[in-house]
Amino acid sequence: MRKNNTVTKNWFKDWSNEYDNTLGKVKRHHKLLDLVVESSGLKDGDAVLDIGCGTGLLSLKFLNKADCVIYGIDSSREMLELFKSKIDKYDLSGKISLEPGDAEDLDFENEKFDIIASTVTLHHVKNKYPVIKKIYKLLKPGGKFILGDIDVDTTGNLEDPKRLLRIIDFLKEEFVLALKEGGVKAFSRMYDNGKKHILNDGEFCVSFKQWKEICKNAGFKKITIKPLPKFKWFKVLIAVK
Ligand SMILES: C[S@@+](CC[C@H](N)C(=O)[O-])C[C@H]1O[C@@H](n2cnc3c(N)ncnc32)[C@H](O)[C@@H]1O
Repeated sequence: MRKNNTVTKNWFKDWSNEYDNTLGKVKRHHKLLDLVVESSGLKDGDAVLDIGCGTGLLSLKFLNKADCVIYGIDSSREMLELFKSKIDKYDLSGKISLEPGDAEDLDFENEKFDIIASTVTLHHVKNKYPVIKKIYKLLKPGGKFILGDIDVDTTGNLEDPKRLLRIIDFLKEEFVLALKEGGVKAFSRMYDNGKKHILNDGEFCVSFKQWKEICKNAGFKKITIKPLPKFKWFKVLIAVK
């Protein structure tokens, strides 16, 4: 297994039991997921792939919006277990299939999906272009890739103070928000996470300008970026095949 993915797997193994009570309590996170669903143009009957589905926060919002079918993949078995318990609780097993798996090894037939969505997951992947190229192949013609993620460029030299200040600007807002809305537990989790962003230790955020370029190079023709109102560090990208 790739080293970076092992770091991330262990991170989510440790976080899973607290996820819904920390990031899951932050209103901004739900606003981001809502904007992803709203931007997707989801219809009844659509096949949706949720990459890094985690505890199912995004998938369940898709299912609330339309009578679609969800395929969720995630590299953390612990996060998937929590999602599975929600599927059982709400009797949704006919609507959702879950698979443990890595975004870098997507194994579905080409042109299977109407929508491929991913929220705050693909920044964990260092080598992004092959993943986006594969997503392009898995979409039906006219299908949509919807990305909800952090808009901060963490590339460059780890010893560059300007890069550090750019990341700290983003982290400052994250820490305050986590403390206000998720309490000390959420703050503590985000604080630990901050060092990972700074050191690119399993966190490899790029700007949405960079994401747009990657999508363009992968073949997507129409690419739109939507800001998340009031939260300048988060955006939603919609790329149509
Ligand atoms: C911050 S959580 C987001 C979960 C959910 N999408 C949400 O918005 O609440 C990131 C999720 O991505 C998963 N993940 C991280 N790297 C991954 C990879 N390379 N392949 C598949 N899943 C990955 C983690 O296990 C975790 O469940």
